[in-house]
Amino acid sequence: MTEKAEFANLLQESRMFEPSEAFKAQANVNDNSLYERADEDFEGYWEDRARELEWFQPWNTVLTWEPPHCKWFEGGKLNICHNALDRHLDGPRRNKAAIIWEGENYDTRTLTYLQLHREVCQFANVLKGLGVKKGDRVAIYLPMVVEAAVAMLACARIGAIHSVVFGGFAPESLRDRINDCEAKVLVTEDGSTRRGKALLLKDTADKALEETPCIKKVVVVKRPYGDPYQCTMKEGRDLWYHDLMAKADTDCPCEEMDAEDPLFILYTSGTTGKPKGVVHTTGGYAVGAHSTCKYVFDMKDTDIFWCTADVGWVTGHTYIAYGPLMNGVTQIMFEGVPNHPHNGRFWEVIEKYRVTIFYTAPTAIRAFMKWGEEIPQKFDLSSLRLLGSVGEPINPEAWIWYHTYIGREGCPIVDTWWQTETGSILMSNLPGVNGMKPGKAGLALPGVCIEIVDDQCNPLATGSGLLVIKKPWPSMLRTIWGDDQRLIDTYFSKWDIQTYFAGDGATRDEDGYIMVLGRVDDVLNVSGHRIGTMEIESVLVEHPKVAEAAVVGKQHEIKGQAIVAYVSYKGDVSHVSEADIAELKKFVADKIGAIARPDEIYVSHDLPKTRSGKIMRRLLRDIAEGRELGDTTTLADPSVVEEIRKQLA
Ligand code: WT7
Repeated sequence: MTEKAEFANLLQESRMFEPSEAFKAQANVNDNSLYERADEDFEGYWEDRARELEWFQPWNTVLTWEPPHCKWFEGGKLNICHNALDRHLDGPRRNKAAIIWEGENYDTRTLTYLQLHREVCQFANVLKGLGVKKGDRVAIYLPMVVEAAVAMLACARIGAIHSVVFGGFAPESLRDRINDCEAKVLVTEDGSTRRGKALLLKDTADKALEETPCIKKVVVVKRPYGDPYQCTMKEGRDLWYHDLMAKADTDCPCEEMDAEDPLFILYTSGTTGKPKGVVHTTGGYAVGAHSTCKYVFDMKDTDIFWCTADVGWVTGHTYIAYGPLMNGVTQIMFEGVPNHPHNGRFWEVIEKYRVTIFYTAPTAIRAFMKWGEEIPQKFDLSSLRLLGSVGEPINPEAWIWYHTYIGREGCPIVDTWWQTETGSILMSNLPGVNGMKPGKAGLALPGVCIEIVDDQCNPLATGSGLLVIKKPWPSMLRTIWGDDQRLIDTYFSKWDIQTYFAGDGATRDEDGYIMVLGRVDDVLNVSGHRIGTMEIESVLVEHPKVAEAAVVGKQHEIKGQAIVAYVSYKGDVSHVSEADIAELKKFVADKIGAIARPDEIYVSHDLPKTRSGKIMRRLLRDIAEGRELGDTTTLADPSVVEEIRKQLA
C-alpha cells in the first residue's frame, strides 16, 4: 500500500496531549456520559440530541432503517431557520452579533440575530414573490458574503431546497449543477475581488445561463466595490437584490417542515465524471450540525467562532450557515484569503475580533508554517481557546506547529473527520474529554458506529484497513439527487447494503485512536477540496488534440495532493510546446474551475497500458512521485514510459 509509505512519519507519532484542567472544567462535556449513554441506548442518545432543538411537533419514530435508506425523527416537524434565528429572539441573544463579516478590503458588516432574522424573512418573501415554493430548488452562486447565508436560511425558512455552487467553479460546472437539480432561481452577485483581482461572477453565470432553461429569475447582489463594473442584466429575468429587498415584507413565518423534507443539495466529486448531488434532509441534519458545534467545538454564548471554509463546501454549510447560529454564538464570516494583502491576514482577523474558536484546514496550516512563525507572533492570539482542523489528514509536524504557535500550547485541537455525505463531524476527540494524538482524528463521536475493516469487511481491533460506518447517523445523506441507485452503488455496495463505505483508508492504534490516511478511490484531495480524477480526464479528452487522459495525485508539501495529468496526443508529439501544455491546463480550469487545474501535464504518443489495454495508473502514480518503477514487462509498449520520463527532468 503506497499510503503506508507516505504516512510513515505519521505512524511514529504517539504522543498524547491531554486537555488542561481549566479547559475541562468549563467544557460542555467533560466526562464519559455521552459515550455511555450512546452505548446503552443508541436511539435514546440521538433523541437527547434532538431535544436540544425546538420542534413544532415531536417525532413518533426515532429511526427507520431500511438499508441503505434511513429516516430520522419521522412525524417530527421543525424548521432549521427557526432554530438558527427565531428561537434566539425572545432572550438576550436578540441583539447579539450573529455574523460579523469582514471583507477582503477590510470593509465590515455586523448583523445581530434580530437584523439577520429580518433580512432572512425579507429574502424569503422575495423568493416567494419570484414563485419559489416548498420543494423548489434555488441555486446560490456567491462568494463569502452575508447574502449567501441569508439566501440559504431564507430557502430553509420557506422549505425551498438550496444548491450552493462554489464561486470558483466555471460556467459549465455551474450549468451542470443547475440543470441536474432543475433550479428555478439563481442568486449571484455582479462582481467583487479575490486577492485583489476581479471576480466577475455574473459574467460567469451569464455563460452558464445560456444553457439553463429551468432558471426563470436571477437575483443579483450588488457589491459596492464592483464599481465601476457593470454586469449585464437581462430584462425580465435578472433582478437586483436591493430592489427586491426594498419592497419585501419583513414578516415571513417559518414553514413547518417534516423532519425528512430535503433541506439542501450539495454536489461533490466522485469516481465518475459527473458530480453527485448529495441530498440532506431537515431534522437529522439539524441535529448533527447543532450537536457537533456544542460538543466538538464546545460552543458557548461567549464564543466568537470562525470557520475559514467557503459556504460553497459542506463545511461552510454546517459550520457557518447552520451550526453556529443554532448555537447562538457570534461568528466571523471572512471574504478574503490568508495571504492578501499580507501573510498575517488570518491572525489579524483573530486579533481584531477576539476569536475564541478557530477552524481551518491543514493545507492552510502548512502554508503558514512555510511563511514562518514570526508572522502569527506579531499578533495577539490570546483570545483563542480551541482550534479545529478539517478536510484532509493533518501531518504531525503541522499539528505541532498549530498547537505551538497558534494555540500557544494551551488550546485543544479537534481534528474532525467527516464528508459532504456525512453532513456533520463523525470523528474527533471531544476536547474536554479525550487526549489528543497529533495526526489522529481519534474516536468516533458518541452514537456513531465507525469501524476499520479489512478487505472482507472483518473489523480490525488495530492495524490498517478501510473506514466504514455500520449504523446510520442522523445527518447522513439520504440519496443522490435524481439517482438513488448511485447511493447504493457508491456507498453501500462494496460488501453488504448495511455498511457505508467512506472511501478512506485508516488505521487504528491500541488506544482505539483512528488515523485517516486519505482516499483509497480515484478521488483527489487538493488543498482540502475533493476532485475526481475522472472529472478532469473527461474534460481533457474533450480537447481536440487529446486522445486519452489519465489523472493521478502526487504528494504536495502544501496542498496535500497535486494534480498530475498524462495525455496521449492526436498527431505529432514531438512538437508539443510549453504553450500547448499551458493551454491544456487552462482548458481544464476554464471548464471545471481553477481548483481542478493540473499542476503537471505530460504528453506522449500513448499511455502506459497493459496488453489488455488497461491504463496502468499505479505506474503513473509511481512516475509522478519519482518512485522506482517495478516490473514494466507487462506493458504493451514500454517505450511510453521512457517518453514520459524524459519530460520529467
Ligand atoms: C474527505 C471528504 C468534511 C469537510 C471537508 C471535506 C477527507 C476530511 C478529514 C480529517 C483526514 C479528512 C477524507 C474524506 N477528510 N476530514 N480530519 N482527516 N481526512 O469534505 O469534500 O466531502 O471530503 O476529506 O478523505 O473522505 P469532502
